[in-house]
Amino acid sequence: GGKPISAADLLTWYDRHRRALPWRARPGEAADPYRVWLSEIMLQQTTVMAVKPYFERFLTRFPTVEALAAAPSEEVMNAWAGLGYYSRARNLHACAKAVVAEHGGRFPDTEDGLRALPGIGAYTAGAIAAIAFDRVAAAVDGNVERVMTRLHAIAEPMPKAKAAVREATLALVPPDRPGDFAQALMDLGATICTPKRPACALCPWMSLCAARRAGEAELYPVKAPK
Ligand code: ADE
Repeated sequence: GGKPISAADLLTWYDRHRRALPWRARPGEAADPYRVWLSEIMLQQTTVMAVKPYFERFLTRFPTVEALAAAPSEEVMNAWAGLGYYSRARNLHACAKAVVAEHGGRFPDTEDGLRALPGIGAYTAGAIAAIAFDRVAAAVDGNVERVMTRLHAIAEPMPKAKAAVREATLALVPPDRPGDFAQALMDLGATICTPKRPACALCPWMSLCAARRAGEAELYPVKAPK
């Protein structure tokens, strides 16, 4: 075998090319779980570009989870207006209230604890656990599915391959930088390992990518026939 796939190559790339996003802590700074949670809920069905101004405005209006929990629902729905998928806003408010009432205003720091809260599913729990608390956790969204199925040439169709993708991702998480690793995968999927015409020449994993080696990056992830 050749050189094993390692998170270190991706992290070196991330240290140079990371996107500065309003919910991200600066290097060396501690992440704020409230900001991480809010951003992940907003990013569930909305693009980074569209989320940015909403995120900033929302934080100005509700700077803490306590402030959000105490706000009237109309005010929360108002601040959300335009982002769509309004059940997210209702769950967001319910989640803030639960964090204050049941957890003393602190977000749980485990995937299981997070998943028990309104609006937090497997992806979001993994993302918050990794990014806010540096827990070894996988945050697998569509972007990460694309990166991982290409890297390992996972030919099993989605969504059947979800378990394999999750395992492959978890196996790579570096225990010293789980949060950076999760965000590096997101950035790689958004900027290099794109659905069409991926920029493989700029990818830190180019020489290790099984799909690229076969000249077939664009064929992944494989979709089940409809
Ligand atoms: N998409 C979902 N979560 C994200 C994050 N934390 N940064 C960038 N894009 C994302």
